[in-house]
Amino acid sequence: MPSHLPIPHLQRLREISHALCLAEGGSHGPDHSERVLTTALTIGRELGAALPLLAAAALLHDIGRKAESLSQGRICHALHGAEIAAPILHELGYSQSDIDAICHCIRSHRYRGNQQPASLEARILFDADKLDSIGAVGIGRAFLFAGQIGARLHNPDVDCSATLPYSLEDTAYREFQVKMSRVREQMLTPVGRALADERHAFMLSFFEQLTLETRVSIPSFLVDENPC
Ligand SMILES: [Fe+2]
Ligand SMILES: [Fe+2]
Repeated sequence: MPSHLPIPHLQRLREISHALCLAEGGSHGPDHSERVLTTALTIGRELGAALPLLAAAALLHDIGRKAESLSQGRICHALHGAEIAAPILHELGYSQSDIDAICHCIRSHRYRGNQQPASLEARILFDADKLDSIGAVGIGRAFLFAGQIGARLHNPDVDCSATLPYSLEDTAYREFQVKMSRVREQMLTPVGRALADERHAFMLSFFEQLTLETRVSIPSFLVDENPC
């Protein structure tokens, strides 16, 4: 299908996505779904994916998060999201084969267990979702989280493998070392990998600069060279 054709039901899908993701805050709320939509369509256009299916999957991929939060993680938001997306898509008039394709993308976007992204659209959604956890956006999200749990602004001197999540040392830099720095290796499409490489390079330079700016040292002219 030519990529200049309008996406069916785009406005309605956006409204549904916004309504169902609103409670998820800065990291997984409606803004995240919109960013994933943009990135997925950018990759999808280059790779010749079915953009209407990809758009629906991107906007609905995290609609199961509320149930996951309320169940304290017992419910998988990807599996649950696919379950609640099916009747929504049916109501909007999607064919059963399109519903199956979209729900596969939603179900496999976490790439857990046997839920592997099997279609081009599913691999693109996986990459687009992961890309939103790195680069400038990823750094912003990491600081949002660090702020929520009261972590330090930065500490490059600590061995991250010896620190604990939800501790004072659970900084954005720790998140970079433990998770964000490995994301580019997980990309499933060549376009996703190229975008991830760019975002990775930006993160490296950001944290280098942050380390420079936060290095604590007393200027030499203030140091008494002959202490008594
Ligand atoms: Fe998700
Ligand atoms: Fe997501």
